[in-house]
Amino acid sequence: MSPYQYVFVVLSITLSTIFNSNMYLTKALNDGFSVELIGRDSPKSPFYNSSETQFERMTNAIHRSFERIKHFYPEDNADRVLQSPISNINGEFLMKFSIGTPKVDVMAIVSTGSDLVWVQCQPCTKCFKQTDPIFDPSKSKTYKVASCSSRVCGLIKKNGCKRSAMSLKCKYEVSYGEGSASSGDIAEETLTFDTNVRNSPTRVDKIIIGCGRKNEGHFSPQSTGVVGLGNSDISLASQLGGSTHHKFSYCLSLKTNIPSLLSFGEKATVSGPGTVSTPLISGRSPIHYYINLKGMTVAGKRINFVTPDSNAGNIAIDSGSTLTLVPADFYAKLESIIVEHLRLPRVTDKNELPALVKLCYKNPPPALFKLPPITVHFDGADIQLDLHHIFIKFANNLFCFAFNVAKNDFLYGIAIQYNFHVGIDRQKKVVSFRPTECNKL
Ligand SMILES: *[C@@H]1O[C@H](CO)[C@@H](O)[C@H](O)[C@H]1NC(C)=O
Repeated sequence: MSPYQYVFVVLSITLSTIFNSNMYLTKALNDGFSVELIGRDSPKSPFYNSSETQFERMTNAIHRSFERIKHFYPEDNADRVLQSPISNINGEFLMKFSIGTPKVDVMAIVSTGSDLVWVQCQPCTKCFKQTDPIFDPSKSKTYKVASCSSRVCGLIKKNGCKRSAMSLKCKYEVSYGEGSASSGDIAEETLTFDTNVRNSPTRVDKIIIGCGRKNEGHFSPQSTGVVGLGNSDISLASQLGGSTHHKFSYCLSLKTNIPSLLSFGEKATVSGPGTVSTPLISGRSPIHYYINLKGMTVAGKRINFVTPDSNAGNIAIDSGSTLTLVPADFYAKLESIIVEHLRLPRVTDKNELPALVKLCYKNPPPALFKLPPITVHFDGADIQLDLHHIFIKFANNLFCFAFNVAKNDFLYGIAIQYNFHVGIDRQKKVVSFRPTECNKL
């Protein structure tokens, strides 16, 4: 280290100690920060099961895609504003962060389909077993329960607290299908993100969180929270707000040795050759990010994407469903063009076909397993796809179609987004795509 660098380091340490940490923080947030997204089945994930085969992992992921779409449209909860289920089961990516002061590590499911940052809290009336210790707010200097009259509470609950409530604490209560429910406090707390690009972690104060003290039903012990990145006022993406220029982005990596990334602020700017953008519009669900898919062109044939709600955004861009789910007639046309082009024997034996999957090829000869050019047409944005966007590897010799059929809600899933930097600008209301390897960002 040169003397100049040394002086600079000492000076910056001193300054950051002297100045209010918020000032330091604002700078860090404006520059943006990135965290690693950990694939649910990767060795770094608490869900990792080394005895599972690729076939089992993919089969489970397909099941989760269909589970996800089932609960896509928000149920009618008493706390109407808190629309999404707080579930840590159906999600394909996790991230690590810390909560409170002193910091406690959380390994949370990240979901663009949820709206709250949520953890289990002590003391618990009923908590599901979790592998890591449960967060105890009484030990945190920065934890503050929201009061009934606070702006925060107003964001969560339509009418603040019930008038009859004796307590002045802001509480939430949500329930959803299959007997799952969660209730607890709404609070403000400090979150710290360990960023892989900066030496110093990024700390953010006063993030609204749900502190669950009674959680019943379907939860999994491996993950210790949820980070909601949805399109509502209380998601983390929304709360970071102006300090991150209302932007976040992700890059889901196809290769297991290249990490997937979630970025905020300037780091979430999608730019450079090949960048295309489409308007972000409202759709059936207020939490999800909807865009307008006009159709696809496969082998020179255009297939129009038509849904019952054709005025609003017709497909949600989703990082929680492996499959892309489309209307039945669209699917039928897409599948038939692909099948016709490939002219290879498809798997017909029910025992060889994974559950809920319609089209697979076994031992496809690499020379023949070549797709025609495929273009996705969004409003104002055309995207070229590769083989790995269309076929998912279930085993070394088994490749299955990454599309399937849904009835009312349609999803642009994970497989089709691999190796794209996808940016969501909540202020400009634009979603941008750029093909890239995630380590080149
Ligand atoms: C891990 O995977 C194997 C193979 O599918 C399965 O039998 C076992 O129950 C799984 N273990 C856990 C803890 O889920």
